Amino acid sequence: MPTDDAPATSDRHADALSVPAHIAIIMDGNGRWANARGMPRAAGHERGVEALRRTVEAAGNLGIRYLTVYSFSTENWRRPAAEVNALFGLLKTFIKKDLARLREEGVKIRILGRREGLPDDIAVLVDKAERDTAENNEFFLNIAFNYGGREEIARAARKLGMAVARGDLDPADVSEDVFESYLDTSGMPDPDLLIRTSGEYRLSNFLLWQAAYCELVFFDVLWPDFDRSWLEKAIRIYNERERRFGAVTTGDA
Ligand code: IPE
Ligand code: IPE
Ligand code: MG
Repeated sequence: MPTDDAPATSDRHADALSVPAHIAIIMDGNGRWANARGMPRAAGHERGVEALRRTVEAAGNLGIRYLTVYSFSTENWRRPAAEVNALFGLLKTFIKKDLARLREEGVKIRILGRREGLPDDIAVLVDKAERDTAENNEFFLNIAFNYGGREEIARAARKLGMAVARGDLDPADVSEDVFESYLDTSGMPDPDLLIRTSGEYRLSNFLLWQAAYCELVFFDVLWPDFDRSWLEKAIRIYNERERRFGAVTTGDA
C-alpha cells in the first residue's frame, strides 16, 4: 500500500507514467493453468488467490487507488457444485487470513454483487470484511463475488423503483448520477483500465455500466501467472492510449 515513506510517485518502475485511478481485472484462466499441469481446477483457483495477493500489493505500491476484481460471476453457478464450493471456500479463507492485514494497511473492502443466495457463513464474513474496513481510505479493493453486471443494474432499478413507490424519488429526477448511486460501486470513479487475462476477448457480464469508457487490455497470460510486471505492462499500454470520451483530439483543425 502507498505509505508516507514510500510514495507511489517515486516508484522507479512507475516513473513518468500516468497511473490510472481505478483498474478492473477479469482474473481468468485458473482452470487452464491447472489443466496444463495435470492438476485439479481447484488448485488453479488456489494459485489464483496468490496472484490476487501479489496484484493488490503491486497496485498499492504503484499508486493505484481502486482495484476491482472479478472472482465469481452470477453465471459461474453453472459449474459443478464441487468447483463452486471450492471457490466459496477460497473467498472465506482469503477474508479470514488477509482481513486483519488489509485493514492494517488501510484497505477498504467492498464486495460487489448479489448478497441473497450466498451461503450464510459467506454472507457473515463479507459483512465483517466491509464493516471492519469501513473507515479506511488508502486503497479500495472491490471483490466482485456472485456478481453480474445485468443483475447489478436490475437490482439498482428495483431499488430505485422502490424509492419512487415510497414517494422518496421523483422519476423526473432520475439522471445518470442518480442511477449510479444505486449501483454497488456507488460513489467510486469508473474504472479507467480493464484487464482480462487468459486470451479471452469478452466482458462476461462484468461492470457493464461502469466500463462504458474504460480502456480494455487483453493478455494471454493465465491468471495464476499474473504479477507486478503484467500490471506495469498494462499501465504502459494504457499510457499509450488516447482517451477521447467522444470528443475530438486537441489540436485537430
Ligand atoms: C477464472 O478462472 C476464475 C473463475 C471464473 C472463478 P477459470 O476457472 O474461468 O479458468 P478457465 O477459464 O477455465 O481456464
Ligand atoms: C469470468 O470468467 C468470471 C470470472 C473471472 C470470475 P469466466 O471464465 O466465467 O467467463 P467465460 O465463461 O469464459 O465467459
Ligand atoms: Mg474462465
